[in-house]
Amino acid sequence: METIIKLENISYKYEDEYVLRDISFDVKKGEKIVLLGINGSGKSTLLKIINGLIFQQKGNYYYKNTLITKKLLKKKDFVKQFRKEVVFLFQNPDTMIFNPTVYDEIAFGLRQLQIDDIDERVKHWAEKLGVYKYLDTPPFNLSGGEKQKVCLASLLALEPEVILMDEPTSNLDPRSTGWFIDFLYELDITTIITTHNLSLSLELGERGLVLSEDHRLIYDGNLKEFLNDIEKLKEANLVHIHKHRHGKIEHRHYHTHDF
Ligand SMILES: Nc1ncnc2c1ncn2[C@@H]1O[C@H](COP(=O)(O)OP(=O)(O)OP(=O)(O)O)[C@@H](O)[C@H]1O
Ligand SMILES: [Mg+2]
Repeated sequence: METIIKLENISYKYEDEYVLRDISFDVKKGEKIVLLGINGSGKSTLLKIINGLIFQQKGNYYYKNTLITKKLLKKKDFVKQFRKEVVFLFQNPDTMIFNPTVYDEIAFGLRQLQIDDIDERVKHWAEKLGVYKYLDTPPFNLSGGEKQKVCLASLLALEPEVILMDEPTSNLDPRSTGWFIDFLYELDITTIITTHNLSLSLELGERGLVLSEDHRLIYDGNLKEFLNDIEKLKEANLVHIHKHRHGKIEHRHYHTHDF
């Protein structure tokens, strides 16, 4: 399969300190990747670089063999195509929503890009995401999970090639999470997803990328193998210790469960 994304020795700092250090990996078309790492390890920052929202101080990022630079993303034709092909579902849906109705929200990107069959696409994706009945509703009136589905509809309506999702299940209840897993499974798009939920992560993709607390890529490979490797989990600080009881016996050991 052809490589769609290539990161070569990427380092990034907001201020003095690097929050990504020397990150390199390739993504093949159609891959579903799960990006793990503790709070502050750099996951959202990495997705923002891949989305061309911020630019690394060191290293190179190639999308479809094209070096992505600030200058290139100022070129109208390129940026239009890139924004259609690479989309980003933010951690907090409120930062994405600003239109008067759900219909306008889903149509917004399509109108920006002057796509022909807007009405058809809006209705199709609203139906698929289960928000059709809200098309005339102000998105602000929806619940967190419903808002996330509206955001997802607005991105998928662009028929992107890559979707970056930052904690997409954080607002979803168990039933919606189950629905999301099935939905993602059917979706034939290159995906990079972040999550803190280790038990859920296996349902989201086969390949895991793991960032350490000091912002390096410490694992790139089979996600299941990573989750079964206690030493690797400790290195990533993705296990925790706490007391608990089995009958009358109280003891402490490592846990990977999610809370
Ligand atoms: N705009 C910013 N200005 C300065 N520092 C920032 C900015 N955004 C993030 N940081 C810092 O960069 C580091 C990485 O942040 P990032 O949001 O990428 O982490 P994350 O892995 O997504 O964390 P979380 O799991 O909490 O979402 C953190 O230490 C954070 O405080
Ligand atoms: Mg984040």
